Amino acid sequence: MISVRGLIVEFGAHRVMDGLDLDVRRGEVLGFVGGSGQGKSVLMRTILGLVQKKAGSIRLFGQDRDALPPRELRLLEQRWGVLFQNGALFSGLTVKQNIQMPMRENRDLSQSFMDDLALLKLKLVGLPADAAEKLPSELSGGMIKRAALARALALDPELLFLDEPTSGLDPIGAADFDELIATLQKTLGLTVFMVTHDLDSLYSICDRVAALSQGKVIGVGSLQELLASDQPWLRAYFHGTRGNRLIGTLERKPDG
Ligand SMILES: Nc1ncnc2c1ncn2[C@@H]1O[C@H](COP(=O)(O)OP(=O)(O)OP(=O)(O)O)[C@@H](O)[C@H]1O
Ligand SMILES: [Mg+2]
Repeated sequence: MISVRGLIVEFGAHRVMDGLDLDVRRGEVLGFVGGSGQGKSVLMRTILGLVQKKAGSIRLFGQDRDALPPRELRLLEQRWGVLFQNGALFSGLTVKQNIQMPMRENRDLSQSFMDDLALLKLKLVGLPADAAEKLPSELSGGMIKRAALARALALDPELLFLDEPTSGLDPIGAADFDELIATLQKTLGLTVFMVTHDLDSLYSICDRVAALSQGKVIGVGSLQELLASDQPWLRAYFHGTRGNRLIGTLERKPDG
C-alpha cells in the first residue's frame, strides 16, 4: 500500500529523513515508533504530501506520487483517512459538520444523505447520535478522538493514518480505542499506519512494528522480533523500565 525508498527530508540544514525505506503491506496494522522529535509525524506528513521531500520515492497503492497529475493525486487522496496528532477537529464546526467536511469537498451528495452518513460514521466509532450537534469543546478527549476518527472514515478509505491516537487517553480509554481500531481494521479491511509511543497498542493491535532512529528505519518486524533484537537503540527503547514491564506481561502469557 505504501512503499518509501531513499527518502530525504530537510528543514534548512536539519536533515530529518536520511535515506529512509519503508513498506506498509495491504491489510496490516503497522506500528511506527521512534523517540520524540525523530520525525514520525514528518514522515507521515511527507507520505501525505504535506511536507516536501528532497529526494527519494513514495509509492501509494502502487503509484508513484511524483508521476501523478494533480487530478489523479486528488482521487488517490480520497482513498485514505488521517487522524493528526494535534488539532483533530475544526473547533467552530459541530461534530456532524466536521464529519461532513470531506464529503462536501469531494462528493456531490444531498444534505439529508450526508446527515445519514454522518450518523452511520458516529455509530461506527461508538459515539451516540446526539454527539452530532455538539461542538468539539463540548466533548471529552476520548470523544474528540472518536469524532476525528469518524471524520477520517468519512470517504470510506482503504488506508488509515493515525498519529498517536491514544495519547492523552486514560489506560481504559486507550485500550477501548485500540479495540475500536482493531475492529474497524478487520470489518472494513483497512490498512493502518499508526505512529505510537504506546507499547500496549503495539502489543495488542499491530501486526508489524517499524522503528525510526536518526532518519532511517532501523528495524521492522513483529513486536517479538524487535524485542529480541540486539540493536542498541531498540534495546534501549523496549527494555527501559516501562518496556520491561510490558515484556514481563508478554512472558507471563502462555502462548508468548
Ligand atoms: N515545518 C517544520 N519546519 C521545521 N522543522 C520541522 C517542521 N516540522 C517538523 N520539524 C522538525 O522535524 C523534527 C521531527 O519532528 P516530528 O514532529 O516529526 O517528530 P516526532 O517524531 O513526530 O515527535 P513526537 O513523538 O514528539 O510527536 C523535529 O526536530 C522538528 O522540530
Ligand atoms: Mg509526532
